[in-house]
Amino acid sequence: MHNTKLSKFITEDDIQKRVSEIGKLLTDQFKNSKDPLIAICVLKGSFMFYSDLTRHIDLDLSCEFLGVSSYHGASKSSGEVKMTLDLSTPIEGKNIILIEDIVDTGLTMNYLLKNLESRKPKKIVTVTLLHKPDASVIPCKIDHIGFKIENDFVVGYGLDYQGYYRNLPYIAQVQNIN
Ligand code: IMP
Repeated sequence: MHNTKLSKFITEDDIQKRVSEIGKLLTDQFKNSKDPLIAICVLKGSFMFYSDLTRHIDLDLSCEFLGVSSYHGASKSSGEVKMTLDLSTPIEGKNIILIEDIVDTGLTMNYLLKNLESRKPKKIVTVTLLHKPDASVIPCKIDHIGFKIENDFVVGYGLDYQGYYRNLPYIAQVQNIN
């Protein structure tokens, strides 16, 4: 976008190293379970993290997708979470890995956890690539965090600003947004 300035923040190499570490942790966590495993991608932001991370989980699993929108293209959270796409299968009695791009206020993760728990899965393990602890307005359970970051707006590797920058292979800070 012509009026925004980006500065590289987390490199592609650092992301890939961390993604492979989390993949190994998840593999160890579920390798002795006989229950079906489902990896849930929270669209749109986690599509890239999800596709890399699931390739590092060395177990049989099925892939499911949930759509949520909370930012509506702005750079500050509206605080309102809306489900735009639901799972295509029941999750009762199954192990779930819920994969998010970023936990900012925590409202989205909280909403998703409540929603999924009501469907009685066996266990939900939550993963987020990025976490902004200082932005939290509600506590939520995060089992694996890629990187803890400051309360700044970031883009790339699935994350957008007004729909752009999701295709960057690295994470960048946007310098000049309000
Ligand atoms: P939360 O509900 O405030 O935790 O926000 C979660 C959602 O807001 C994420 O899934 C992202 O889509 C979006 N979001 C939060 N912070 C950022 C950011 O720094 N860059 C891009 N999107 C963000």
